[in-house]
Amino acid sequence: MCGIVGYTGKNQAINYLLDGLAALEYRGYDSAGVAIISPSRHLHVVKCQGRVEALRQRCDDANLVGSCGIGHTRWATHGAPADRNAHPHTDCSGSIAIVHNGIIENFEELRRSLRAEGHEFKSETDSEVIAHLFGDAWNGPAKGDMVGALRNTVARLEGSWAIAVICSDVPDQIVVTRCGSPLVVASTEDGAYAASDVIPLSSVTDHVVQLEDGDIALLEKDGGITVYDASGGEVTEPKGLDIDWDASMATLGGHSDFMGKEIAEQPEAIERLLKDRLGKHGIEMDELRMTREELSQVDRVYIIGCGTSYNVGLIAKTLIEHWARIFVSVEFASEFNYADVLVTDHTLCLIITQSGETADTLAAARRLKGMGCKIFAITNVLGSSAAREADGTLYVQAGPEVAVASTKAYTAQMVASALVALRLAFANGSMTPCDVEMIYRELRQVPDLIREIFNRSWQDKQAVPIFQDATSALYLGRGTNSTTAYEGALKMKEIAYVHAEAYPAGEMKHGPIALIEPGFPVLAVVPDDHVHDKTVSNIMESIARGAKVVAVATDGDEEVAQLCEQVLWVPKMDEYIVPIVAVVHLQMLARYVAKAKGLDVDKPRNLAKSVTVE
Ligand code: M6R
Repeated sequence: MCGIVGYTGKNQAINYLLDGLAALEYRGYDSAGVAIISPSRHLHVVKCQGRVEALRQRCDDANLVGSCGIGHTRWATHGAPADRNAHPHTDCSGSIAIVHNGIIENFEELRRSLRAEGHEFKSETDSEVIAHLFGDAWNGPAKGDMVGALRNTVARLEGSWAIAVICSDVPDQIVVTRCGSPLVVASTEDGAYAASDVIPLSSVTDHVVQLEDGDIALLEKDGGITVYDASGGEVTEPKGLDIDWDASMATLGGHSDFMGKEIAEQPEAIERLLKDRLGKHGIEMDELRMTREELSQVDRVYIIGCGTSYNVGLIAKTLIEHWARIFVSVEFASEFNYADVLVTDHTLCLIITQSGETADTLAAARRLKGMGCKIFAITNVLGSSAAREADGTLYVQAGPEVAVASTKAYTAQMVASALVALRLAFANGSMTPCDVEMIYRELRQVPDLIREIFNRSWQDKQAVPIFQDATSALYLGRGTNSTTAYEGALKMKEIAYVHAEAYPAGEMKHGPIALIEPGFPVLAVVPDDHVHDKTVSNIMESIARGAKVVAVATDGDEEVAQLCEQVLWVPKMDEYIVPIVAVVHLQMLARYVAKAKGLDVDKPRNLAKSVTVE
């Protein structure tokens, strides 16, 4: 949540700041702002509620000139989305500006004591205390020392943060730090850059420096970056990261929205992930960093995730239990952190997170690590916190996912989970090399099967009127496809604002069936699998009460075609592959419904892509 950028160098800062914020807008879009130091050493702040486009307009009007500045795009936590709560925040003198991503947990107490000392606050945010604390340090114990002043400031904070600070007394320097929120910096011939993640930087460099928690970095106009660790020592070789995403991957490239683009990218993403994975020892996965013997001893798996990544976990559970015969527990990270945990000596923890920065997921992983579990991350974002903290990481290589609603990461993470399940199954002897090879070959069919779903997108368009004016809908499925229903309903809720409730089809009669009245929309996932006939019975129960049923069914299923208002067809395939393919219809359906309602499919209200607060 929240994105921050910074630049000092020979160019005008405003260009990178605005483009960088636009690239980070998926992290939050309640308000945006920049602070720039003018050639006459004045600090200018322009900020407003709303999107970066609105800020761009205000900056044009203000004609901001200067080559050192910071910027912020906000997802509101403390204080309503409003101009006064937008970052950057300034100290009382108006010469220091800060941007912050994270939460300052002790801000009430700090604000009380700062007020008592005479500081005046202009916002309701937790972040503003940072500007005042920095101001006190700058004018007091750390006079004239940006690094010292920031160290002094963070010593008083509790919570999580990535912070960037500028001060008009030193017009060419930016000082940044992080603790629990992501931040990368980069040095180029044109100057020094900072950003919450690599996406804005991919247009200026292919190499970034990753800061560790507690590091403080001083960025200077000539591109120089000096990193100090938490103890104050200079880090002579800070950890670098090569960016293999080129900037165009995070642009629309002819698509009308990122969600549409990312849905379309799924086949290639899965092809990349599966390439060269089959070796003579089954699935090649050195990333696990566990020997075959260690893998064979795994007797319990905890899978942790949130939202869409949690849904991937449900599929992963089915695959690991079915193929590797190991007990799996899937947990919402936010719940897990406050629940009892029962680990064995050989429990493996699998964290699934597209961004690799979800605070709840990271907290859960740290908890399990503290209990001695091996942590394996399935993530998309290179160098993310999850990747850095896990014992092993499998990158799903889906490329930047910009739309808030996860699509290509979901299907790629499912394929990654299937690979992990096969690796475990081979290691503990539950599957022979021949079985593994057979499933791998099925997985290789997925990209073309998804392409075939794209050819059928007209079917999703036809179903739009059934959902467009609905306030409520039921999504039903059984077995692995109850998860397809969960994921389809999540997409419908988050981008089309239809209250779609997903339920295991057989459970419907225990309550939700009371919702059904004539015309009520029901979406049933009923492919040709071992629970097909049971799900058909549930469809009949819905129709008997007047529901309008749209089904996802396998080609040639005349019975379902006769019963339902409409069918979204999928080709015949192995039932364990169906969830990866069938969900694509539901992604497209949600997108079409949202578009028909005139909604912004990339930036749905109240949400942010990367949820870095607990
Ligand atoms: O980056 P993560 O995978 O950890 O994010 C988890 C959820 O916040 C995320 O999947 C969210 O539910 C998406 N908006 C769903 O489309």
